[in-house]
Amino acid sequence: MDIRPYKRLAALYDKDWGGYCLQYLKLIDYIIEKYKFVPKSILDIACGTGNLLAKLYDQKYNVIGIDVTPEMIEIAKNKYPYIKFHIGDMCYVDLKTKVNLITCAFDSLNYIRDDNKMDKTFKNIYKHLHPDGFFLFDINTPILFENRHYGIINHEYKGKKFEQILTYNRKSKIAKTVFHFENGELEEHIQKAYTRDNMKTFLMKNKFKIMDTFEDFDFNIANKYSSRIIFITCKK
Ligand SMILES: C[S@@+](CC[C@H](N)C(=O)[O-])C[C@H]1O[C@@H](n2cnc3c(N)ncnc32)[C@H](O)[C@@H]1O
Repeated sequence: MDIRPYKRLAALYDKDWGGYCLQYLKLIDYIIEKYKFVPKSILDIACGTGNLLAKLYDQKYNVIGIDVTPEMIEIAKNKYPYIKFHIGDMCYVDLKTKVNLITCAFDSLNYIRDDNKMDKTFKNIYKHLHPDGFFLFDINTPILFENRHYGIINHEYKGKKFEQILTYNRKSKIAKTVFHFENGELEEHIQKAYTRDNMKTFLMKNKFKIMDTFEDFDFNIANKYSSRIIFITCKK
């Protein structure tokens, strides 16, 4: 059985998760205001079902989206046929273009579990950014997984029930989410927890400068107890 993440969840994603990325609109307003930055072209990596890009397109930005899951991209294309979406892995994709803002919303970087791959991903993001460019992303820290990633969550969508089973290994920092669908099919998501310092190492090594770190979209400054960290970064 193909248990790839989002293969089946793609069709159900928007109801419970599709709105999270819209909070990035606040981050974009923040960098425009604080850094007098004009983000003409925007690339959303791990764009999922495309909801953030659709709002940015409506605001007249030039937008592109990439995501590794064909089922997510298919939904994005069906909803927003006027936006350019590509299937691609953020570590290797080569769009042969540069933008001045890259976003990666909703703990998508936690799907990268290998330091070497994370490093290559930052290199690739750097390659797609203009010299004045900003890169915005968020990650889940070990605190989030330790405190919240356990138990079973029951979901229902269009009369169909499915379960989300959460486990976390503190030693390996690996979080597993298994979805059980009504028809007996499964889907497994594996993420790794990262601290602020872990991400700082990747960023420094790949010539990014950290401008701000927040623990939420109310712009509270991140600290060592933050369960999620939002990074506002730019090229050094
Ligand atoms: C939690 S969803 C977030 C989607 C979207 N950013 C949002 O906020 O709605 C995580 C997304 O990361 C994508 N993803 C995971 N690993 C990826 C990779 N290596 N390259 C590109 N996309 C990836 C998944 O396919 C999925 O769409």
